[in-house]
Amino acid sequence: MAAVEDALLVAGGLGTRMLPTSASVPKEALPLVDIPALHHLAREAVAAGVRRIHIISSPRKDLTGLLGDNAWLQSKRPDIDSQLLSPFADIEVHVHIQQEPLGLGNAIECALSDISGPFLVLLGDNILLDKHTSPDSFSPSTASLKLVENFNKNGLPCVGLLKVMPEDVSDYGVVRQDGERILEIVEKPTIEEAPSNLVLCGRYLFTSDCRALLQKYSVEAYGELQSIAVQKHWMENDGLLGVELAQFQWYDSGKPLPWLQAQVDHALRRSDLSESFSAWLKDRLAQD
Ligand code: UTP
Repeated sequence: MAAVEDALLVAGGLGTRMLPTSASVPKEALPLVDIPALHHLAREAVAAGVRRIHIISSPRKDLTGLLGDNAWLQSKRPDIDSQLLSPFADIEVHVHIQQEPLGLGNAIECALSDISGPFLVLLGDNILLDKHTSPDSFSPSTASLKLVENFNKNGLPCVGLLKVMPEDVSDYGVVRQDGERILEIVEKPTIEEAPSNLVLCGRYLFTSDCRALLQKYSVEAYGELQSIAVQKHWMENDGLLGVELAQFQWYDSGKPLPWLQAQVDHALRRSDLSESFSAWLKDRLAQD
């Protein structure tokens, strides 16, 4: 079985729900307290064992600052883990430009001429954390590693899944499963239509036939549903598996309220911040 050597961090969208900030700062650059989303994702991909990271950007976005080597700052802040000052220094990086934000399938297509084997896809504004570490004791997420382990066992494409509150299903792709096998994906259903409350959570491991399938299910014909059409193809043929990531906290920097909730939730779980932050928060809430 071919090894998973490539990861795509997709950051080519407009981010209209985070305007006006996203007009000047890519939402993928926004921090979870003090670590940018894209840096969390880069370290997660490296921890999953890939050799190359492909970043999908747009003609209007400048990610140069995020990709840079900031080792020179180490003497100013010797406490910070060096992998966070230069998160891309130990990995090959390719930047691909998606000319128009035509959806996830089209974003993936931009990188596929450089990739020959199975690959990971991480949505640039979705962080999944199993450990809530600070910059002086950083430990990367193992979410993508879980998908790679599943692929190494089964040889089939797979997607990360998480449970959401039933009233939130209409924001997501919701799945019906038989064991690990996904039988159905319903995009943004009503509560009544939803087959479960298990949803796609921004982590995918796709196989090398993806390139041909993205041509078969073209963006012209399927628009933003192109990547769902490819996943349905796998579902209806050799199989698409779901990997439930129940032990992970899911943080989204794509909308103001979830972004704010992410800061609060993570701060309350981080050992260097939780005591003083929760004391301040209790005090603040008591004022109302
Ligand atoms: P979203 O659909 O949440 O992002 O995509 P968006 O389109 O930028 O946001 P809104 O709807 O305008 O607020 C999830 C991730 O996929 C990337 C985005 O950059 C984001 O990180 N994406 C989305 C692409 O790379 N290309 C696309 O065409 C769409």
